[in-house]
Amino acid sequence: MPIDAHTQVVGVLGYPVRHSLSPTMHNAAFEALGLNWVYLAFEVPPERLAEAIAGMRALGIRGLNLTIPHKEAACSLVDRLTAQAEAIGAVNTLFWDGDTLVGDNTDSEGFLRSLLEAGVEPKGQRVLVLGAGGSARAIVYALRQRGASVWLANRNLQRAEQLAQRYNAEGVLSLDAAALAPQLTRFDGVVNCTPLGMHPNEETMPPLPVANLPAHAWVCDLVYRPLETRLLREAHAHGLKTVSGLGMLLWQGALAFERWTGTSAPVAVMARALRESLA
Ligand SMILES: NC(=O)c1ccc[n+]([C@@H]2O[C@H](COP(=O)([O-])OP(=O)(O)OC[C@H]3O[C@@H](n4cnc5c(N)ncnc54)[C@H](OP(=O)(O)O)[C@@H]3O)[C@@H](O)[C@H]2O)c1
Repeated sequence: MPIDAHTQVVGVLGYPVRHSLSPTMHNAAFEALGLNWVYLAFEVPPERLAEAIAGMRALGIRGLNLTIPHKEAACSLVDRLTAQAEAIGAVNTLFWDGDTLVGDNTDSEGFLRSLLEAGVEPKGQRVLVLGAGGSARAIVYALRQRGASVWLANRNLQRAEQLAQRYNAEGVLSLDAAALAPQLTRFDGVVNCTPLGMHPNEETMPPLPVANLPAHAWVCDLVYRPLETRLLREAHAHGLKTVSGLGMLLWQGALAFERWTGTSAPVAVMARALRESLA
């Protein structure tokens, strides 16, 4: 679709942002549906975020994604927050409801969709979340909303305790193999929300003795570069079900696409574009 005077603009604000796969994923979707839209990456430093969002309003940009480090700061720059953005305290998607600029968070629902799509229903399960940073907040919120019982394991215990309190989690553990080993038999699933295992540190992994998890347990890694992390490789080798971070990346994007265009996202096209970029 050639860019012309009718082309609608969406994009992502981040700092840094040049590693983002979102332009590839969304532009493949626009192309597949024949929509005259384009998705761009804007490198915006934190001190210029307010100006960038004012610019979005003035230019009639149809929607934005926000990534590190803007997700929290953007909450105070919109006209209204959705219930999930308010509960998580972070915004990853801006869209227009008439003249009202709405801040939403599609990370939590995107994560949940990726689990369900992989055949995992966390409702009623006991889930261990590794990490207590930005992504852990959206994941713990999603799991609690779905009716899972959640435990948190983090290096900084105080941070984990704050998160546990906020979402009524069951307990907090130290992110340490010796501390985790005797506890793991009680969990149905584990979600890694730390960057351990991420490129270029592909030989690292969270200190999780996967052999101690029950045979029915599943392991999800939010890290998607590489697609199969060392954690997922070890879990798979022990016969456990594994869920990669690609699904969350895909579904948070598909949900944002639907907020902006009012059209069902071509999820298979978007997934193929992501897989090709990560190959
Ligand atoms: N698949 C997706 O769509 C998706 C979405 C969002 C994020 N992610 C991925 O998720 C990962 C986490 O992102 P985030 O935004 O939550 O990061 P973040 O806010 O910086 O939080 C990182 C967490 O990991 C812990 N951590 C970091 N380095 C560690 C180390 N060497 N040893 C032990 N713990 C360590 C931190 O512990 P302390 O509290 O002790 O510092 C913190 O709890 C990243 O790899 C990101 O790419 C994927």
